[in-house]
Amino acid sequence: MIPREVIDEILSRNDIESLVGSYVSLKRAGSNLKGLCPFHSEKSPSFTVFPKDNSFYCFGCGVGGDAITFVREIEHLDYPDAVAFLAKRVGINILPDTDAPSGGERKIDKERILKMNVDAAKYYHAALFAENEKARAALRYFTEKRALSMATIRHFGLGYAPDGFDVFTKYMLSKGYTHEELVAGFLSGKSERGHYYDAFRNRVMFPIIDVSGRVIAFGGRVMDDSQPKYKNSSDTPVFKKTRNLFALNFARQSCAETMILCEGYMDVIAMHAAGFTNAVATLGTAITADQARLMSRYTKKVIISYDADEAGQKAAVRAMRMLGEVGLEVSVFKVPDAKDPDEYIRTFGKDKFRAALDASKSKFEYNTDRVLSKYNLDIPQEKINAIAEMSEMIAGFYSAAERDVYVRAAAKKFGVSADALSRDVERIVKRNVKTYAKEQTQKIRQETAGFSDRVNADFVKAPTVAKNEESVLGLLLLFPNHRRKVFEENMLSAEDFFTEFNKKVFLYLQEAYKNGEDPAARMNEVFTPEEIGRLTKIKLARMELTDNGDEVLTDAVAALKASYAKKQAEGTNTYEGLNALLANIRKSTEE
Ligand code: GTP
Ligand code: MN
Repeated sequence: MIPREVIDEILSRNDIESLVGSYVSLKRAGSNLKGLCPFHSEKSPSFTVFPKDNSFYCFGCGVGGDAITFVREIEHLDYPDAVAFLAKRVGINILPDTDAPSGGERKIDKERILKMNVDAAKYYHAALFAENEKARAALRYFTEKRALSMATIRHFGLGYAPDGFDVFTKYMLSKGYTHEELVAGFLSGKSERGHYYDAFRNRVMFPIIDVSGRVIAFGGRVMDDSQPKYKNSSDTPVFKKTRNLFALNFARQSCAETMILCEGYMDVIAMHAAGFTNAVATLGTAITADQARLMSRYTKKVIISYDADEAGQKAAVRAMRMLGEVGLEVSVFKVPDAKDPDEYIRTFGKDKFRAALDASKSKFEYNTDRVLSKYNLDIPQEKINAIAEMSEMIAGFYSAAERDVYVRAAAKKFGVSADALSRDVERIVKRNVKTYAKEQTQKIRQETAGFSDRVNADFVKAPTVAKNEESVLGLLLLFPNHRRKVFEENMLSAEDFFTEFNKKVFLYLQEAYKNGEDPAARMNEVFTPEEIGRLTKIKLARMELTDNGDEVLTDAVAALKASYAKKQAEGTNTYEGLNALLANIRKSTEE
């Protein structure tokens, strides 16, 4: 276990504002800071950082906690790794966890995997220049078939995984890596008969490098038409494919204004070679919200340049929505007369590509063309369908001014009156707003019914008691003098709590008090990030109140005891939950 003082040191040196600020762009709001939540999609900021007590909370989705919780959530790390991450960030050396349980499974060391990946990348790269016919064929694949220069091959560290069963694996074992490490890093596999084999065989190799320059994974392509065309690393302890982008390590230097998003590694490489060094690609999957947010940290505008086929264009529509949702300006560029950007550049050259790219279309233009190409406007019914689809599309724009501009443009194209089209569009907008409100009510309803209260499942059984519990816990979480009073004078005991979760929190606070520790001390050791989010919410609800004096504490404790007694007297009153639910629905519809 990491000593208390070290954790305190790590927390105090990792000031929350700069930590969160390196992931989220924050704006000052009074004594706090606000930004778009990195944990859910939103258009107006409800993610708040409280520098005063080194915490954060999102009023939209309920994530919250301290610097450690933030790192657990955003980097997907467990508690010890999150602490190590923060320690490293401020240059504190923490000794390896020697008294960790040493069960059957040994813990895989991430630093070792990263080092292993570098050695693997060097091996594959060297193998591309080996003196044998297969290696020469691999090199020819890059230089002739894909028309890459030596400089480009070296720049991207491209390589070749030799043919054979376990040449590579044997080499890595001789370098001191273990079978477990090779399998964990997705470089080797284990056959049913227990033999370890090379994960990549007779494939040209693309190392995947993260923004800080670490080799985190590999993609390997066959050199003929066999299947599967690509084999990509699965997620490993150092790699999440949905959270990284190919070539972002290079693109970050030149993408402040615009970034180009492609589908394939080869498209990106061709673009960089042609001077478009702001190109990136996803790693064999459709774009995720995480990747969209990652892009929004580096750029303002994204040009989507996917394959020209129907699948590529469908994916582009989806990407457009994902990128729009994180506030990026988006346009789409569909290469004419080629299947993808790579082929286009090879066929027509970079100057034509630049000219074509400059003419890339805005979201509106692109969608309009898509609709127009689908329907025959000479047939009345098709024209009606086209107009309906256009109206839906225009209604999707957030700003009324934008909608107005596009309504006029579309009306002209279809030869209908702008007023009529505008009425259609605004009707859809209203309908969408209503649907949204309905969804929200539905959400609240589910929450109050306890369906989605995963943190405190007992809440619904006795909402009044649970609320009173939270009220007391809020006071205890915030004020040392209240803790002293409650724990020294035995004002409350665990038996006074009805819900399991709140009882657990109470016991935790009591224990911390006995050990003379701040309640924040071991929070991340004991609670899941989701639970910490709830604790933060409970604390904030109290912080908003101006009076939190002794009398308030006495009253809150009395109210808790009274409500619990009443609950017990009533037995299991099923109506309480229902009443709370109705009250909540009434409230949410009044707002
Ligand atoms: P080529 O031009 O044919 O070399 O490929 P590309 O880089 O243009 O890729 P393509 O557009 O065919 O596919 C886009 C991306 O999807 C690739 O870069 C890979 O990451 C991924 N991908 C393609 N085919 C496969 C496959 O068979 N298996 C897996 N796992 N991923 C694939
Ligand atoms: Mn291609």
